[in-house]
Amino acid sequence: MTKVKKITNICCIGAGYVGGPTMAVIAQKCPHIKVTVVDLNEQRIADWNDTDLNKLPIYEPGLAEVVAEARDRNLFFSTDVGKAIDDAQMIFISVNTPTKTYGVGKGMAADLKFIELCARQIARVSKDDKIIVEKSTLPVRTAEALSTILNSTGNGVNFDILSSPEFLAEGTAISDLHTPDRILIGGEETEKGQAAMEALVAVYENWVPRENIVTTRVWSSELSKLTANAFLAQRVSSINAMSALCEKTGADVDEISRAIGADSRIGSKFLKSSVGFGGSCFQKDILNLVYLCRHFNLPEVADYWEQVIKMNDYQKHRFAKNIIDTLFNTVSGKKIAFLGWAFKKDTNDTRESAAIYVADELLQDRAEIHIYDPKVTEEQIFADICHCEEERRGNLLNSEATKDLLSRVIIHSDPYSAMQSAHAIAILTEWDEFKNYDWQKVYKEVLKPAFVFDGRNIVDKDQLAEIGFEVYNIGKGK
Ligand code: UDX
Ligand code: UDX
Repeated sequence: MTKVKKITNICCIGAGYVGGPTMAVIAQKCPHIKVTVVDLNEQRIADWNDTDLNKLPIYEPGLAEVVAEARDRNLFFSTDVGKAIDDAQMIFISVNTPTKTYGVGKGMAADLKFIELCARQIARVSKDDKIIVEKSTLPVRTAEALSTILNSTGNGVNFDILSSPEFLAEGTAISDLHTPDRILIGGEETEKGQAAMEALVAVYENWVPRENIVTTRVWSSELSKLTANAFLAQRVSSINAMSALCEKTGADVDEISRAIGADSRIGSKFLKSSVGFGGSCFQKDILNLVYLCRHFNLPEVADYWEQVIKMNDYQKHRFAKNIIDTLFNTVSGKKIAFLGWAFKKDTNDTRESAAIYVADELLQDRAEIHIYDPKVTEEQIFADICHCEEERRGNLLNSEATKDLLSRVIIHSDPYSAMQSAHAIAILTEWDEFKNYDWQKVYKEVLKPAFVFDGRNIVDKDQLAEIGFEVYNIGKGK
């Protein structure tokens, strides 16, 4: 029997939205394990080490408390990647795997260059056996590639590769990590592989019941992550497809969600119609799945999943177009207030946020956009807008073009100033605070007719209509 290694030292490469909170919770729940999170980005590590917990690089409810409890006890953030790898018995890889922007698989396949860099560095500095855990969402069979790189060093060090995708959702990361529906661990079916799996099971068993820890073969684990995200995104696209029909027929999409969600076979979650899903995972993972299917010559399967993304693009476009159409077919020179920029509430993450694409369409029609988000920085919003424009153009913006574009984007730290004298208000993120604004005061200060486009169906339509607003929702017929 291969002996199961008792883990007392963990390293995680990548201090992002996944690596940071996941390691903070492992450290909190396992005080006997030293956890070191490393990252190439020095600023990010400095922010994780900031004594002011408001300056942590990511915003997640409850995260600051967990970091406060474990940091400098058994949780450390460092830029010394080599040393942390060398010291650890178990290494989590949690670096980003964006969609490729060049070459073979451009716009579809996952870019594995960061993963490969990690593998090469691990191979270079390791002096004793290690268990490697893939936390990043990866294409199926990446573990095999990792294994090939790691085990070809010829220095006698043995590496076991596990796939343990993370299912936390941003905004609820800490509670998802504290009480996960399941922990998934994929490993090789050999005795050695099983022992590596047991070592990781033992880490999670410190707070997760054993029956909630699912073990599978590596490829099933890798593909389960893509499948879970594809299914979740598909639900959102399905309800969004119905929202378009609701608007034409006078039905109410929220009533439909409630009615169908009560069917226990369907279930009530992920049926909230919106301006479109965003986030770092859904689109990227589906594109990845589509690429895999095409690679294996399964065009029907590829087309089936690709439609989920097309529907999402359509939903974002529909929302922007409705604003332009309603504002008498042009928003040129008009002030549009944006409430929310993050891809969902309770996070400062903006990756693939629907707000970016809606803003882009309105900016192309030469609108002036005034943005308020409780957690996203001005710097991030400017970067998102410029990046989107560059993607569309296919080249980088020069300083004049950047200046022209950003002259029509104004960031506010106060929602009321963002809405003052606006031709229309668009709600892009479902932050709770938007529900409780003094809408009477807002009404007095906006131009009339006073339009509200609620991309999240969160404000009280009747109350706003009574004040005098003309409210447009997602999936609610007139
Ligand atoms: C990422 C992926 O997007 C997701 O698919 C996967 O499941 C987990 O990893 P996230 O943590 O949200 O998610 O990414 P990000 O916040 O960008 O963090 C990645 C970090 O890795 C960054 O801080 C980056 O600086 C760091 N990194 C990247 C390294 O330290 N080394 C590298 O070689 C590459
Ligand atoms: C997702 C998965 O939920 C998580 O398991 C995985 O680890 C990473 O990807 P995340 O992207 O952080 O998590 O957030 P999620 O709550 O899934 O929301 C994704 C997008 O869908 C958001 O833009 C959200 O606003 C939207 N959404 C979600 C809807 O529009 N309607 C819904 O009913 C649910």
